[in-house]
This record gives sequence, structure tokens and C-alpha cells, in this order.
Amino acid sequence: MQSALRQVGDYIIRRCQSEDLGEVITVNLATLPEHYSDYFFESILKELPESFVVAELNSHVVGYIMCKIEFGFSNFKKLGFVKKGHVVSVGVLEEHRGKGVGKALMLEGINGVISRGGDEIYLEVRVSNGSAINMYERLGFFIKSRLKSYYRDGEDAFLMAIELD
Ligand SMILES: CC(C)(COP(=O)(O)OP(=O)(O)OC[C@H]1O[C@@H](n2cnc3c(N)ncnc32)[C@H](O)[C@@H]1OP(=O)(O)O)[C@@H](O)C(=O)NCCC(=O)NCCS
Repeated sequence: MQSALRQVGDYIIRRCQSEDLGEVITVNLATLPEHYSDYFFESILKELPESFVVAELNSHVVGYIMCKIEFGFSNFKKLGFVKKGHVVSVGVLEEHRGKGVGKALMLEGINGVISRGGDEIYLEVRVSNGSAINMYERLGFFIKSRLKSYYRDGEDAFLMAIELD
């Protein structure tokens, strides 16, 4: 069993293990319209295990975050290519929201990117997703641009980013 990275009330925040992926996928299906293949979850866990973090309560996964590392142009006008963390997906089951679990997952996901020497982190969020946008702003993310029809159903996304130093 992975040791706890932090505890939020009764919730244990710890790194994801491959045995957790079934429950992570269940949480993803219940919380977000963007779904992925089993292989995608496995490959992200292999690629950046430091930033694949789960929230556990009573031996069950109730939330998760998974991130990637990419190289590309900076969202903060730094010259040349930078190392960017990308929050691919974060979700907390509805009955466990509003208790600090999402924020704790984000902070540990960010720590994972910092441990890999990331310069910044970015993510996309639906323009209608007020609670997630609030959470990201409280963590220090800025809206950098609006991506037209980013989602399959035609909704726009905000690209949000935070600089790490
Ligand atoms: C976004 C999400 C992960 C937040 O998880 P959570 O555990 O409820 O978040 P927390 O309790 O840690 O709250 C963190 C911050 O989010 C904001 N927030 C959370 N719920 C909110 C709500 N209902 N309304 C407004 N802001 C809210 C607050 O700013 C809060 O910080 P504060 O408590 O210091 O004010 C959760 O709502 C979720 O899973 N939503 C569905 C999936 C999703 O939208 N994922 C993001 C896709 S980009």
C-alpha cells in the first residue's frame, strides 16, 4: 500500500497504484463527460506516477488526478520550449465534494510536476464549470485563452496555467 501524501479529514491522499485503476475509471465515468481507454489510464500512470494521485475513503477511491509532462511553448511568454505539466483529468465523486479533496489532489499533482522539474502547469476547463474554475483560481491559475469549441459537444474551454518557480 502506498503511504499517505497527506490526509484531509478521513480522506487519504496517496499515489495511485495499478490496482486502483478500475476504481479511478469508475470515478471518471461518474464525474466527467470525457472518458478514456483503460490503456490511456495505464500509460499515464506509467509516464507520470508522481502526479497520478487518488483520494481514498474506507478503502475506496473517491477522487483522482492524472497529469502528463509535455514540452512546448510557454503560456507565460518564456522563450524557447518549456517543460509543462498538463492536468489531463481531475474528479471527485459528488458526495465527497466541498471538503477540500479536490484542492488536495491538485496540490499533490502540482508537487509531482515540480519534482520532475516542470516550469509551468496548464489545463483546459469548460467555460461553464464555475466550481472547477474557482478551484484553479484559488490555487493561483490564470485564464490564458479561450479555446473555441474545444469539447465534442461544442462548448468552449478556458486554457488556464500557473507558473512554477
Ligand atoms: C472540481 C472538483 C474536482 C472540485 O473538487 P472538490 O473536492 O469539491 O474541491 P474542494 O472542496 O477542494 O474545493 C476547492 C475549491 O474549489 C472551489 N469550489 C468547490 N466547490 C465549489 C462550488 N460548488 N462552487 C464554487 N466553488 C467551488 C472553491 O474555490 C474551493 O476552495 P475554497 O473551499 O477554499 O473556497 C469537483 O467539483 C469535481 O469533481 N467536479 C466534476 C469534475 C470536474 O469538473 N473536474 C474538473 C474538470 S476541468
